Amino acid sequence: MPQYFGKLPTTAQPWSTIEPVESVQKDERSVQFKCGEAHLILSILAPNLIRVKMSPNGDFLPRRSWAVAKDDSEWPVVSFQHNQSGNNTEIETEQLKISVTKDSQISFFDKQGNAFACDANPSAGWRMGMTASWKKIAADEHFYGFGERTGFLDKLSQVKTNWTTDALDFGSLTDEMYQAIPFFIALRPGLAYGVFFNTTFWSCFDIGAEEPAILKMETRAPELDYYIIYGPEPSQILQTYCELTGKMPLPPKWALGYHQCRWSYESEIVVQNLTKEFRQRQIPCDVIHLDIDYMRGYRVFTWSPKRFPNYQNLLSNLAENGFKAVTIIDPGVKYEPEADYAVFDEGLQNDYFVRKADGQLFHGYVWPDKAVFPDFMRSDVRKWWGDWHKTLTDVGVSGIWCDMNEPALDDRPFGDPGNKIWFPFDAPQGDDNDRTNHAETHNLYGLMMAKSTSEGLEKHRHERSFVLTRSGYAGVQKWSSVWMGDNHSLWDHLEMSLPMLCNMGLSGVAFVGCDIGGFAGNATAELFARWMQVGMLYPLMRAHSAFSTARHEPWVFGEEVEKICREYIQLRYQLLPYIYTAFWEAATTGAPILRPLLYHYPNDLQTYHLYDQVFLGSAIMAAPIYRPGVEYRSVYLPEGVWFDWWTGERYQGSQHILAHAPLEKMPLYVRAGAVIPMMPVMQYVDQRPVDELTVKIYPGEGEFTFYEDDGKSFEYKTGNFATTTYKVFSENEKILVEIGAKQGNYTPPARQLIVQVIGVGEERFTDDGNARTLTF
Ligand code: GLC
Repeated sequence: MPQYFGKLPTTAQPWSTIEPVESVQKDERSVQFKCGEAHLILSILAPNLIRVKMSPNGDFLPRRSWAVAKDDSEWPVVSFQHNQSGNNTEIETEQLKISVTKDSQISFFDKQGNAFACDANPSAGWRMGMTASWKKIAADEHFYGFGERTGFLDKLSQVKTNWTTDALDFGSLTDEMYQAIPFFIALRPGLAYGVFFNTTFWSCFDIGAEEPAILKMETRAPELDYYIIYGPEPSQILQTYCELTGKMPLPPKWALGYHQCRWSYESEIVVQNLTKEFRQRQIPCDVIHLDIDYMRGYRVFTWSPKRFPNYQNLLSNLAENGFKAVTIIDPGVKYEPEADYAVFDEGLQNDYFVRKADGQLFHGYVWPDKAVFPDFMRSDVRKWWGDWHKTLTDVGVSGIWCDMNEPALDDRPFGDPGNKIWFPFDAPQGDDNDRTNHAETHNLYGLMMAKSTSEGLEKHRHERSFVLTRSGYAGVQKWSSVWMGDNHSLWDHLEMSLPMLCNMGLSGVAFVGCDIGGFAGNATAELFARWMQVGMLYPLMRAHSAFSTARHEPWVFGEEVEKICREYIQLRYQLLPYIYTAFWEAATTGAPILRPLLYHYPNDLQTYHLYDQVFLGSAIMAAPIYRPGVEYRSVYLPEGVWFDWWTGERYQGSQHILAHAPLEKMPLYVRAGAVIPMMPVMQYVDQRPVDELTVKIYPGEGEFTFYEDDGKSFEYKTGNFATTTYKVFSENEKILVEIGAKQGNYTPPARQLIVQVIGVGEERFTDDGNARTLTF
């Protein structure tokens, strides 16, 4: 039956619900409630961060998430007030008030007394090993994040399941996706909060679908565990959420350049010709991805002797021409007992592969046909797998693309959508002292594979590497970038890519992208041109296309489209100093790189459903075209003053304007007061030192901290970076640009600085890192 008609309930058994409070206890970090048999614990981890746990029988499992980077005891103790009146409890932190009534109902209040995340009646319950929490949805509340999701921005009135799945052929009705990130942000004017549902078991959010105005959070875990993160704005929520689940490390700068991928560039010659084409046509490109056909019969960590006989040569050739190679790695290891295939042999010998509950080796069918699967939950397996990457990094591979790690596998034969299977839910997984089964670890398979990969690369490559994963769980940002899987060469997939990536950003995962041009199917010239424009905004800018589709390189659609692709890829490269600063912001504060307008204007209701305009960083707003034959579109300019990127024309905000956007133009706007550092076009990131930095200033009031480091080593972690703060303001009809002295140890290459005030004038001088004020 098609899923959108719903599913029959599997049981008529009613929920048992929590009983009234019988007694209350308090310690330094938490308040504990005994509610009949059930126990409820509220831990105060920060003034804006409260963890709620409930166990139906008072037994709490030792550990229920592998995603939390900061355990309760690692948060500095915060003081809170605790008032008890009978069995009614009030807790107060610097930012919040929490009440727990004698009926065991929890409500949160901001300092103005606005209630949020309030328990409904019933508030918490359990049945058949599952637990659930019910909360009230406020009248004007809207819901964002939820990890990787199709559809538009706001998820009110929908059901969102957290279960990693190979979501091939996804569309706007698809629920389960490759990523499972049980986190969301609820927003209304003046108040936003986040909820991280800390369960790796199957879980589900019903956001007012079954019962309007009721949010139900349900999990197949035997206890409830969730964190409430108060804002009041999305930026503060993400900051705390990334503190909790982990921050993104800075990727190498080259990973911010253009990536070209196809399933497959199937031989050395094809790859050589491809890279020649880029350089001859002067289309910047940093990264070439090698899909599954570089391997010998889809055996991971091998090379095809027929198609890549001189792969070492190829890789050094690529390096000489400024290209980085990224190879795909799937988790399925070919089952080959008699073939001297070392990955299989070692894995079997050391018992690294997942077994069924009865001890039999588990297998499924994937690209190499019969395959077995490493148990990435085990630290020894992660280390072993990570070390295998040395065979690739030693010959010059710079990044790894982890695919099929939901894990995607079939019963025989592989490739029939009806044959999809999972590991048995009772298959044991994990280290001996942390052993559980697949029901609990399913959602973690991709995350743990990415972790193993990232740690292996860090160990063997000695500089920053690139990791890309299809599947993941909350906290994936700590280990990898993410792409949205197998999209289609369809206009609606281009359109959907914006809210999809924005919701990923609102789920703490900033380094994200969709396959430019669409993976499955054939793009038209017009679709490809529009997609490249939008792709220029994706934090991960990668074009990819599937086996047996037409080629999707920038030049295949004729001169006009090639020119458009070149111009937008060039613009991406010019903007790299600005984009790299946005990555630094993401790495330090959890801010998304691609942002929906509501991120910057959370009190402006007009932005709540605005899914087709986005911010790249904090200053540039794009209003792309994502429909065929469309040359005009409405653009919403929020409050303030705006400038047209292309013409410099000034607009008053708080209005809609009609933008003219012929094929070669994607409407782009800049906020007044913006500071945008840019570099000259290069064919790849480190082609030559940036000897000229142009800083575009848009008249108004603003401040911007520009971040720089060497772009490749880990030295930034020990202080080898530099920041320069620019302030823009007006005085006596003059525009003043105050450049602060360069802070930090890093010394950028010698360069000319060109400060350009849009529509006013420019000044050029040698950048000596000293403070100065310019007047225009
Ligand atoms: C999966 C990936 C896709 C890749 C293909 C072959 O479908 O999502 O990106 O090209 O496998 O490896």
